[in-house]
Amino acid sequence: MRNPIRYAATLLLTSGLAASALAADPQSIQWSNVPAKTITLFYPGQSTYDWLLSPAHTKGDKQVAQGKACLSCHEGDEKDLGNKLVKAGALEPTPIPDKAGVVDVAVQAAHDAEFLYLRLQWKTRLNREGRMHDYVRFDGKQWKWYGGDRNEKEVRAGEQPPLYEDRLAIMIDDGKVPTFPQQGCWLTCHNGMRDTQNSAVGDPVKKHPLLGDAGLKQTDVRKYLKSTRIDDAATWDKTKSREEIDKVKAAGGFLDLMQWRVARSAAIGMADDGYVLEYRLADEGKDPFSWQINRSTMTPTYMFDAAKVGAKALRAEDIGNPAKPAALIKETNAVPYDPNAGWKEGDILPGRMLSRADAKGSAADNDAAFGTWKDGTYTLVWRRKLDTGHPADDKIMKVGGKYTVGIAVHDDNVTTRFHHVSFPLSLGIGVDADIKALTLK
Ligand code: HEC
Repeated sequence: MRNPIRYAATLLLTSGLAASALAADPQSIQWSNVPAKTITLFYPGQSTYDWLLSPAHTKGDKQVAQGKACLSCHEGDEKDLGNKLVKAGALEPTPIPDKAGVVDVAVQAAHDAEFLYLRLQWKTRLNREGRMHDYVRFDGKQWKWYGGDRNEKEVRAGEQPPLYEDRLAIMIDDGKVPTFPQQGCWLTCHNGMRDTQNSAVGDPVKKHPLLGDAGLKQTDVRKYLKSTRIDDAATWDKTKSREEIDKVKAAGGFLDLMQWRVARSAAIGMADDGYVLEYRLADEGKDPFSWQINRSTMTPTYMFDAAKVGAKALRAEDIGNPAKPAALIKETNAVPYDPNAGWKEGDILPGRMLSRADAKGSAADNDAAFGTWKDGTYTLVWRRKLDTGHPADDKIMKVGGKYTVGIAVHDDNVTTRFHHVSFPLSLGIGVDADIKALTLK
C-alpha cells in the first residue's frame, strides 16, 4: 500500500519559487491525513513574569519562583483565564472593546529528514485579513501616517482606521533556556516592556548603555530573558555586560522566535526569523521587509506599478478587498516613486517594501510559509529546516528530538501584549509529544 501521507515528488511551489531538490512543498502534503491538535490560545493581559511572582498571583507566586509548570495548576483554565483577562480588571487597565478571550488554533505537524512542516488554522474576529501595516495617506499636500493598531489613541478615538498586520508567532527552545518547558513565553515577558506596567519608552531607554543609542539603538523595551539581567527581578535596565550576554548566546541560551506576518512577509511566501535574548532581535542577515518611506521627509521611494496593479496607489475603499494587493513587492509590483504622478487626496501606500531577493542569511531562513485567508479562517502551511545551518541564532532540531514551543496569534489589528498565547507545548520530531510531527516517507 502506498503511504497515505506521501507528498508530491515534483515541486509545486506557488509564485514560481525555486527550492532545494529534496524539499517538499508544504502545500502539497496531504494534510487531511495528518492528525490535528487544537490548542486554545488565551488573552494574557498584563500577566507579566513580575506579576506571576507577586502575591497577587494567589497561591502561584512561590511555586512559579521555584520553576513549577503553569499547567500543573492551570490545566484546562485557558478559556476562563482568557475570557476574564480580556475585560477591564487588575491585569487589563486598557481593554479593547469586543475582543475575544480565546483563539483556537488547529495544529498539524509532519517532518522528513530535512524539514519540519506545520499547518495551522485559526479564525479571525474581523471579516477581513489584517494585511495593511505602516501605511501612509496623501492629504492633498503631503504623506502622513495612516491607520494603526487598535490600542492606539487615534484608533480608539475613531480618528484613524484600525490597520495593523495579523501574525502567527512560534517560539522554540531546545532545553537550553531554564524552565521554558514549564513556563513558556511568560519567561520573556516583564514589566517595563511596551504596554506593560511602568513601560520604559524614549529617553530612559535611549540613554541605556546596552539597549540605547550606544548599543542596540532601541527606544523601547521588548521581550528578554532573565539570564541577561543581573537582579533576581530581571529588571529591564539591569543588564549584564555585552560579553556576558554573548556567552549566554554562544551556549545556546536564547529562544528562537519566528513570525509569519500577514503584511510584512506573507505576500512573498515567507516568515521572519528572530530570537529572544537581551531583547527581541532579528537573526543575522536581512529580513524579508524594509522601510520604503523616508521617515524624516515622509517621502515614499516606491509606488505600485499601475500597469500591473491597475493603480499607483490604493484607496480607503480597497481595505479588505482581496482582489487588491496590499504589499509593495520589489520584484513584482513596484516602480520608483514619482512625486509628479498626480497624487490625489486619499491615495494610500504601504510604508514597507517586501523582497525575497533582498532577504539574506539566517534572517531569511523561513522561505516557504504560505497562508491563505478564506471565510474568516487562516490556513497557514510552513516549512522550516530542522537544521537551518545557523546555530548562532536558530534552534537546530533533529529527527527524534523533543522541543518546547509557545504559539501566539495577533488577531484583529493588534500589537504587543494584545495577542493570544499558549501555555508551553512539547513538539516531537517523529516522537510522542503534545504535538507529534508525523514522519513522512
Ligand atoms: C502552584 C499553582 C500555580 C502555578 C504553578 C501557577 N499558577 Fe497561576 N494562578 C494560581 C492560582 C491559585 C490563581 C488564582 C485563581 C485563579 O484565578 O485560577 C492563579 C491565577 C493566575 C492568573 C490570573 C487570573 C485572574 O483571575 O486574574 C494568571 C494569568 C495566571 N495564574 C497565570 C499563570 C502562569 C502563566 C503560570 C506559569 C508561568 C502560572 N499561573 C502558574 C495558581 C498557580
